[in-house]
Amino acid sequence: MTDRALDVVEFLLTARVYERDTDLDENDLPPAVRSALWDGDGVPRPPKATGEAVAEATGIADPWEEVASLMFTERDSFSGRIRLVDDEMAKEWYANRAEASRIQSNPALAAAYEGEIEDVDHAAAREANRPVQADPQWIDGLLEDMFDEEDEEMLDLVEVQAPAEIETTLDDLVLTDEQQVETEKVSKAIEHRDYLAQVGLVEVGKLLFVGPPGTGKTSTARGLAHRLDLPFVEVKLSMITSQYLGETAKNVEKVFEVAKRLSPCVLFIDEFDFVAKTRTSDEHAAIKRAVNTLLKAIDEMSLVKDDVLLVGATNHPDELDAAVWRRFDEILSFPKPTKSMRADILRIVTRGIDVENFDPEEIAANTDGLTGSDLRLVLREAVLDALVEDRTTLAQTDLLDAVKAFEERDHLRNLDSLEEAVETGESGEEGHDHGHDHEHDHDHEQAPADADD
Ligand SMILES: Nc1ncnc2c1ncn2[C@@H]1O[C@H](COP(=O)(O)OP(=O)(O)O)[C@@H](O)[C@H]1O
Ligand SMILES: [Mg+2]
Repeated sequence: MTDRALDVVEFLLTARVYERDTDLDENDLPPAVRSALWDGDGVPRPPKATGEAVAEATGIADPWEEVASLMFTERDSFSGRIRLVDDEMAKEWYANRAEASRIQSNPALAAAYEGEIEDVDHAAAREANRPVQADPQWIDGLLEDMFDEEDEEMLDLVEVQAPAEIETTLDDLVLTDEQQVETEKVSKAIEHRDYLAQVGLVEVGKLLFVGPPGTGKTSTARGLAHRLDLPFVEVKLSMITSQYLGETAKNVEKVFEVAKRLSPCVLFIDEFDFVAKTRTSDEHAAIKRAVNTLLKAIDEMSLVKDDVLLVGATNHPDELDAAVWRRFDEILSFPKPTKSMRADILRIVTRGIDVENFDPEEIAANTDGLTGSDLRLVLREAVLDALVEDRTTLAQTDLLDAVKAFEERDHLRNLDSLEEAVETGESGEEGHDHGHDHEHDHDHEQAPADADD
């Protein structure tokens, strides 16, 4: 018997157990099974275990072929449904071939085998299983239920991501000690929000992430949503400034309304410094009104009451005034990574790539001032350059070259045109009469010795 047959039987048995044991719900199905059997707003009884559904969940192209020779399977060629004709036989067949740990990773099966097989515990299996609320289908269904045609346009203001769709998890991020402690704390606070309500501790769940671009603020907020299995609702403040300024305050209200309807969720408000920018431009009374609406909405929002974790982020903390600061329970700093953090980030971003003589410490020592996002760009550059030479294996030197190229570009970006003109004039190696302006002529630019590293 092949592993593939085992996969197919597991699927059929899971569907069968779910069908018959009405104490079970969608959270007892492993995500792949659940997603393949999903129909409308849940998994129906009986589930539609067609060959197609099995193929979707297992990745096996022709599931029936794998199990056709087994005595306890049958296919209805009209509906395409594959089913078990003898549950007990199937159950025994499966138990003889699957390890306990495999059964334990499937809560429905754990329920079926609990008491019969050692180390199989349904409650623990269910607890460890990713909940249905994290599935994209669930979020889609929720969005459909919560927003009818009339207020569908509210959803244009935000981006909603299911936790299962979040690719960068907290494990993929190199966090400072403080960031680790805070993410741990807020995770606990969410888990125990009922307890916090009970003891009257309601001032938790509003975080402000502060730091330069590319230091992991957005990724960390997403990672939190992933860790907590909550939908991630993202809004960029610059995006909700309606061209009709009068609408902006209303848009702010709508964003919070969306978050409340989707709760429990993480509401991520990016570009918080936008608040500050508009505060000084007093010609825009409408925007001022929007800012006040925003601040008030933040005041009224509560993790404990509304089940919304609020995370703000800004690249320019210096532009925020006390009125904003004081609305957050916790300010979390996202500094540029230290040398050892850079080495760790490099280890993570190169995980799927072959690098000969890889020495992340050496690259880290050469990349003072670069952020996690910069390091990703460096790697991308190295990979693309190697591809140009038809290589998919990198060497340490490729990475070092990419760092140099990155720094030259970065240097150019930071020069203002006056400085640049002067420098080009000075390093006039090919300095015979250029008939054109050099402002964008990068070939003539020499990166100065890296004195500031
Ligand atoms: N500390 C870090 N560890 C790992 N990757 C990082 C880190 N900081 C940034 N990155 C990577 O850089 C990219 C941009 O990060 P992002 O979260 O968008 O930064 P920000 O929101 O602060 O501008 C992401 O792909 C992220 O994975
Ligand atoms: Mg960001």
